[in-house]
Amino acid sequence: VCTHTYTLIYEGKSKRVYVKNRDELILEFKDEVTARDGALRSFIRGKGIINARVSAYFFSVLNKKGIDTHFLDYDGARKMAVKKLRMLPLEVIVRNYAYGSQLKRIPLLKPLQELNPPIVEFHYKDDSLHDPLIIVDDIINSGIATHEELNFIIKTSLRINDILREVFSEAKLKLIDFKIEFGRDRDNKLILADEISGDTFRVLDDNGKHLDKEVFRRTGDPKLLIDAYIRLCEKLGIKVDDIDFHG
Ligand code: ADP
Ligand code: CDP
Repeated sequence: VCTHTYTLIYEGKSKRVYVKNRDELILEFKDEVTARDGALRSFIRGKGIINARVSAYFFSVLNKKGIDTHFLDYDGARKMAVKKLRMLPLEVIVRNYAYGSQLKRIPLLKPLQELNPPIVEFHYKDDSLHDPLIIVDDIINSGIATHEELNFIIKTSLRINDILREVFSEAKLKLIDFKIEFGRDRDNKLILADEISGDTFRVLDDNGKHLDKEVFRRTGDPKLLIDAYIRLCEKLGIKVDDIDFHG
């Protein structure tokens, strides 16, 4: 998937979006990481390829398990062809263990306390408002999604959680939480979109070490983050030996 001829329509914090044709986009994963609302920012060689590869891996697994995802094709490097969707302005977060913003919101929960059954929560995707938590009635009344669509999103997100947990547990990793996004296709069908990578999930290895972006949130050290992402790939059986991390 080559981007020379494609028109750039959006550049976000971690990806560039190009138009491939009427129905398809190219997502290009950047070698950049940001955290703490953009206060921490770093260039990390190899990070874009790793996250594209990890995302392609998980979307393929989910597609095989019958989840409708936007994933069409992966170029082996940092680009992915996807179905063009109209995105819902929502971040859907699934939590298996209490962590992060949830602990800030409800300090009564203990860090890493198991949440059984898992929780699905919605955040309104707006950087200027810091992606605030939004309740179901706000989503319905504001026309973001209908009651039926939200039920579908909750059911699908929990199914995705089951599938991801199984994959991670085979790799001896514990899935704490993750963020996903959905969009509508031409037929208004809801499709899983965006990315599934160390930037968007939290996982712990059997020593309780993070193999996700938490490493960068805590240390601000790009080198430690790429090391964690390489270990994540090794655990999942995703090859990284062709990636140039030094330039
Ligand atoms: P952000 O906008 O949060 O900085 P990114 O840098 O990841 O995030 O930018 C990617 C953008 O592409 C996001 O706004 C995401 O919602 C959007 N997106 C992801 N998948 C699709 C898709 N299949 N169709 C349309 N937009 C998508
Ligand atoms: O990361 P933070 O503590 O601010 O937020 P959280 O709500 O506890 O994050 C829950 C999960 O969603 C984590 O795995 C984050 O990596 C992910 N997330 C994300 O990918 N993008 C966001 N804008 C917010 C959270």
